[in-house]
Amino acid sequence: MERLLALEMIRVTEAAAIASARLMGRGDTMEADRVAVEAMRRTFDEIPIDARIVIGEGERDEAPMLYIGERVGDPKSAVGEAPEIDIAVDPLEGTNLVAYGQAGSITVLAATERGGLLNAPDCYMEKLCVGPVVAGKVDITAPPAENLRRIAAALGRGVNDITVVILERPRHETLIAEVRAAGARIKLISDGDLSAAISCAVSGTGVHAVMGIGGAPEGVITAAALRCLGGEIQARLVFRNPEEQARATAMGHGDPTRIYGTDELASGENLVFAATGVTKGDLLEGVRFFGGGARTHSLVMAYQTKQVRFVDTVHMFDRTKPPAVRL
Ligand code: FBP
Repeated sequence: MERLLALEMIRVTEAAAIASARLMGRGDTMEADRVAVEAMRRTFDEIPIDARIVIGEGERDEAPMLYIGERVGDPKSAVGEAPEIDIAVDPLEGTNLVAYGQAGSITVLAATERGGLLNAPDCYMEKLCVGPVVAGKVDITAPPAENLRRIAAALGRGVNDITVVILERPRHETLIAEVRAAGARIKLISDGDLSAAISCAVSGTGVHAVMGIGGAPEGVITAAALRCLGGEIQARLVFRNPEEQARATAMGHGDPTRIYGTDELASGENLVFAATGVTKGDLLEGVRFFGGGARTHSLVMAYQTKQVRFVDTVHMFDRTKPPAVRL
């Protein structure tokens, strides 16, 4: 199942990336997201799966497509019984980045068997993400300086050789001050803690950890990626008001002190993660358009088969217009 899923899922993220990349720099976040959602939805429906969106664009009444609980796929076209799949999508991670032509936006999803992804409430999540060498050695309840010391020790570096990615937000003032005081380097990003978290599990990206508070849905998709890569996320839900906490409580996730680990956020055995670059980032190229088509760069991973593929695809919109395919 994983193998079929991996190849099919990448078509979904590619289609969304091409659609939204067309709108790069237009300053229209809503439209960049809308076309990504629409392309994802359309492509899902070409795949012989019986799928359910568990993390998506919001509740049914607030999102016309890819809402939580929506069924996608074309189970009737399956040979035999269509596999029952749960899907978490972020059709455009970094809508602002695309709208203003900045680096690091991706289209992304995780897919697995039923029940294999945590049905996270739409609130914030405090996250501590590290790569495979550091996995098991950090503790989200410890102060940042202590975690930095542990990360540095695991990587055989000094703390001043560690780079931490943090979302540039007023809520992170104290965290940023503490990381600076500990002597680590910081990469402040305007958006996109999900792709930053993947980077910290890929050597050569120059990123060693992600710390701070971002979206909880993104945290679940991050867990899927880090599980495939052998990395780790530790997380706690953060509620902005009593209503948010009440909604989370109704879903069984109202405790802000509860620590969620990688395997709990993305527990599926047949787990697939796919992402395609929209604008160029640390890990993936952005979509490049040319006369007769476009070229995309994607990452697709499967947990069981232990495969990580970087996929470079040429999409030929018009075969008569050279240069359609080149090295
Ligand atoms: P979008 O998918 O909506 O573009 O979110 C981007 C993002 O920066 C995430 O990477 C991050 O987890 C979250 O938004 C942070 O939320 P906020 O902008 O409210 O601080």
